[in-house]
Amino acid sequence: MKVAELAVHFESTYADRPRVYRAPGRVNLIGEHTDYNDGFVMPAAIGFSAYAATSPRRDRKLLIRSAEYPGTFEFDFDCLPRQRTGDWCDYVVGVAVMLQQEGIRFAGSNLLIHGDVPVGAGLSSSAAIEVASALALLSLGDRRLTLPEIAQLCRKAENTFVGARVGIMDQFVSCMGKAGHALLLDCRSLDFQLAPIPARIRLVVCNTMVKHDLATGTYNIRRAECEEGVRFFAKRNPSVHALRDVTTDLLQQYSRELPPTLLKRCTHVVEENQRTREAARAFAEGNLARMGELMRDSHNSLRDLYEVSCRELDVMVDSAQGLPGFLGGRMTGGGFGGCTVNLVEEQHCAEFATRIAEQFQAETGITPQIYTCSAEDGAQELPQPF
Ligand code: GLA
Repeated sequence: MKVAELAVHFESTYADRPRVYRAPGRVNLIGEHTDYNDGFVMPAAIGFSAYAATSPRRDRKLLIRSAEYPGTFEFDFDCLPRQRTGDWCDYVVGVAVMLQQEGIRFAGSNLLIHGDVPVGAGLSSSAAIEVASALALLSLGDRRLTLPEIAQLCRKAENTFVGARVGIMDQFVSCMGKAGHALLLDCRSLDFQLAPIPARIRLVVCNTMVKHDLATGTYNIRRAECEEGVRFFAKRNPSVHALRDVTTDLLQQYSRELPPTLLKRCTHVVEENQRTREAARAFAEGNLARMGELMRDSHNSLRDLYEVSCRELDVMVDSAQGLPGFLGGRMTGGGFGGCTVNLVEEQHCAEFATRIAEQFQAETGITPQIYTCSAEDGAQELPQPF
């Protein structure tokens, strides 16, 4: 659906002209399962986006509809639900609840949500909806927030309202992404550097079509394991507040005392943080061969130590090796299904897409979807007329 069609759909639904806000999904080049450990990540916003069209109402109602999903959800800003309802509108309601908790006051709002980020593919469709909704709601509120504040608020909505204990990466890059760049983000300070992606390189995203579900999945278990790791090290070294603070030396010193599963999880996080910083340096120097090696190591570590890959992701990663134009690839996002991200030279993208799809299908019997993406800008209001 084009944005102009969304505006027409809005007008026929609510008999009003909307303002429209866009927030993108993302891929993460490297730095996986490090964000909630106060570590480093290197995501890029992509063209798949969520859109929130909105207009004010005279009453105190919040009306939410989607261009794709059924249902009209009607709430009152004076008594928003305290818990998730289990419906897709939770991502929007959670944001409204958090905005109110910030003390922001609203008149009523009509909302129409549309998204083209593949759902359950690990490309952050939920963060995109949250951020687009936050921008739309804020346009009708009595106070402004900065984009990094919006990212944190949306993360809080997902943590406390939706119930997925995600880190800050997805919401942050959806807000702050920049065309042609990845972000090297320090998830503790929220400082970031822009990492230019060479113009001749595309981000080829390969969807295994195996869906993952963060809210109910192993994701929250991994978080709990990391917290157990932090408690273990903090007892022995009070300067440890997060796995980000665990050095290789410290890890080695206690490797025999740590239960084997915790050792694997902590080793992944410690080494992935090192890999991510090195990747940013390699990328900046144009050393794409090293970047490719680091992406491969990251995948292997997620597969063997963090144990969040799955057969289909491994097959997709293996299928890319040696294809023309391929520079590096790995699973991207939370794992347990979803997509791989591949750095591919533009001139070889079409052949890469055909051959990886053939190989993956031959091995798994699944027809994958292949998307050739570029890094795009983060959240914004779309200029009118649409
Ligand atoms: C999901 C979460 C992110 C991050 C990744 C894993 O995408 O939303 O916060 O933890 O998994 O790196």
